[in-house]
Formats: sequence, C-alpha cells, structure tokens
Amino acid sequence: MASHQEIAGVSDQDFVLRMVRSHDNRFDEAFWLYVEEQVRPQLTENPRIVDLGCGPGLFVRDLGNRFSGAELYGYDLTPAMVEYAKSEVEYAGSQPEFDVLDITTTPVPLEDNSVDLLTMTAVLHVLDEPLAMCAEIRRLLAPGGVFLLQDWIRLPLSKYLDMMMENVPPEKAQVMEKAMMRLSVAHNKYTIEDWIWLLDKGGLKVLHQTQIRTEHFCVFVCQEK
Ligand SMILES: C[S@@+](CC[C@H](N)C(=O)[O-])C[C@H]1O[C@@H](n2cnc3c(N)ncnc32)[C@H](O)[C@@H]1O
Repeated sequence: MASHQEIAGVSDQDFVLRMVRSHDNRFDEAFWLYVEEQVRPQLTENPRIVDLGCGPGLFVRDLGNRFSGAELYGYDLTPAMVEYAKSEVEYAGSQPEFDVLDITTTPVPLEDNSVDLLTMTAVLHVLDEPLAMCAEIRRLLAPGGVFLLQDWIRLPLSKYLDMMMENVPPEKAQVMEKAMMRLSVAHNKYTIEDWIWLLDKGGLKVLHQTQIRTEHFCVFVCQEK
C-alpha cells in the first residue's frame, strides 16, 4: 500500500503542515453542528473516543474540547504526525494517548467492545483492505458505539482537477497537476453508493450521511449491524 505522502510526492513534514493548514476548513462549524445533532445523542457521559489515522492531533483536541470527560486516543502511521500531536498541540482535559501504529497490520491496543466513538477522516480510502479495517472497527466498538467516517467521494476527473487547482499559482501549476493526477486515483475511488455497500459488507450500517461542505467529501454515522 502506497502512503499518502508517496502518492502525493510530499515529505512527511510537508504532509503534517498540509493537514494542520487545512484543519479548520475540514472541521468547520457546520461539521460540528452535524456531530451535535447526529453523534452526541448516541454517546454516554464520559465516552472513550479513538481517532484512527489521527494526523497532527487537532481533531482529537477538538473532540476533547467538545466532549469534556472523554478518554481520548489517536493512532497514526506517520511518526511526524504523532510527534506533532504530542508536542505541538495543547489539550483542554487530560492528555490524550497518541501512538505510532500501522492500523492495517497491528490491532489497536484496546480491548474488544470498549470504544464509544471511533473516528476516521480521509484515511479509509487509501487502505488496500477496507473490509479488514471494518472488522477491526467492529471489534473495538462498544454496544451502541458509533463509527464516524469522513472520506473522499468520487468526482469526474475534470471537476476534481479544477477543484484541486483552484488557488494554485501559475508557476506551480505544472508540478501540482502531476501530483493531483497521482492523488486522484486514491481520492476518486469510491462513490457514496460504494461507501454504503462497503460499510454494509463490513458489518456496519449507515444511520445517517451528509455532504456538508463540498461534494467531494461525505460524513457517515455508522453502527455495528
Ligand atoms: C489525509 S491524512 C488525515 C489526517 C487526519 N485524520 C485529519 O483529518 O487531519 C491521513 C492520515 O492517515 C494516516 N495513515 C495512513 N495509512 C495509515 C495506516 N495504515 N495506519 C495508520 N495511519 C495511517 C497518515 O499517516 C495520515 O496522517
């Protein structure tokens, strides 16, 4: 499985900065309103929350700010991401636990049926065996636990490239277009119907779904079937 960085042709450090810079745009007020409406009512008072492919930890921080009393965990393959999450981010409550982990080869070091909210943003599309990941997600989810998935939705290539090249200065256009063509294979993999089929096959039922900001991303609220 090629990593995000390999596909995009960027260094680990650049990838960290890219995720930090785009964070507020990806997790905006409309997203949090949706979480309040669709996720919070399903959670207990002090939920255990796990973010798989947590990147630089900012989403874990935001979850901690909104779910005070939560027990927080973040796992990521890229050491530079985990390093950033541990040393550059301030957390409101107790320090979350972050670890470097390849979630495709190593089970998450938490007990079966122990996670109330499991989140994954822009990660599952890149994994070669999403169904194996769904099995691990089901192992971890507590009864009534929620899997909150946010991931890429397939767009026509021309639309995808127009969107990705929108604010690229002319002197960088050629290099960026090459990188985006490579990335498009990963980003334009699944339609919404594909995701619903895949989650269903993986033993997860979609309770609710929405496209909040843009048509290239969808949020799915799921539970074990
Ligand atoms: C596009 S970034 C998204 C980061 C974060 N979820 C966010 O939205 O800010 C994808 C993240 O998934 C991580 N990742 C990719 N494959 C992984 C794997 N097999 N195990 C754990 N993390 C992985 C990458 O290192 C990267 O941090």
